[in-house]
Amino acid sequence: MGKGSGFGKVILFGEHFVVHGVPGIVSAIDSTANAKVTRKNKTIEVKDERRGSKGYAEEKKIQQLESINRMLKKMKLDPETTGLNIWLGGSLPGFSGLGASAASSVAIARAIAGEFTLSFSDQEINDIAYEAEKAYAGNPSGIDNTAATFGGLLWFKKNLAGGSNTIEKLSLRKPVEIIIGSTGIVANTKAMVKGVAERKKANPQKYNPLFKKAEELAINARNAIHQFDLMKVGNLMDVNHSLLQEIGVSCKELDQLVETAKEQGAYGAKLTGGGGGGCMTALTPGEDLQEKVAKAIEKEGFQVLRTKIGIKRI
Ligand code: MEV
Repeated sequence: MGKGSGFGKVILFGEHFVVHGVPGIVSAIDSTANAKVTRKNKTIEVKDERRGSKGYAEEKKIQQLESINRMLKKMKLDPETTGLNIWLGGSLPGFSGLGASAASSVAIARAIAGEFTLSFSDQEINDIAYEAEKAYAGNPSGIDNTAATFGGLLWFKKNLAGGSNTIEKLSLRKPVEIIIGSTGIVANTKAMVKGVAERKKANPQKYNPLFKKAEELAINARNAIHQFDLMKVGNLMDVNHSLLQEIGVSCKELDQLVETAKEQGAYGAKLTGGGGGGCMTALTPGEDLQEKVAKAIEKEGFQVLRTKIGIKRI
């Protein structure tokens, strides 16, 4: 039996903009997707025991099978003849927006490699998971699979010319509490990414300045993280949320979660991931503030994950 795991992630700055070459900042969180793989005859069967949004596993089933086929091809295994029993579990909930698909792809790729005694470097696993991500996101930037593979706090910039992406480790002076609130809505990342690309193409006068702002924002955020200026990081998250609203990827539930988090004293709050449902994240330094914000959101009937960014080793 082969075993593997992949980190969940939270995008702090730049989702959607990263697809078009703008830098983004992502942090792995202390939850993982885990996979176990054993060989069998021909067909591929997936037993998905991850907890999370109702309907997440069913909704993603077709994309998941396509992603496994893509991975097998990239690993030079024949999807027609390779039979697999795949078990998925782990502490990462199947909320849209936390990189659950990328984390599971990394976990499955590592587990398949284990079962077939294939040896892949982390970079190769990252490339395999990127192939798998295409099934879920259409034209992914690669930020999710990069965080799922390497973990940590990362600066990411997609190389639009097709060469290696820029991946740099950032460090926070100490880990900081955040909360993640789930709208409970299973989002279709592929449709969201496509929608942004179409609107950008149709309306460059509106979209190009927003993309320019997103780039400046990422650079300022990197500096604020470096200086451990959490108030500034929070303010920039708020600005990032308004940019995401302007490019049409927020929704009323996400805006409600952001508003509640801010009312309760969060330093900053924004949607995280593909939007259109999925999750919101709020910067809540200190356990007291984290708990206050989490409780208020739970009181409104949403599920919450309490976690930290900038964890050195998970
Ligand atoms: C999804 O977690 C992040 C997006 O920017 C898509 C991507 O970067 O591949 C929406």
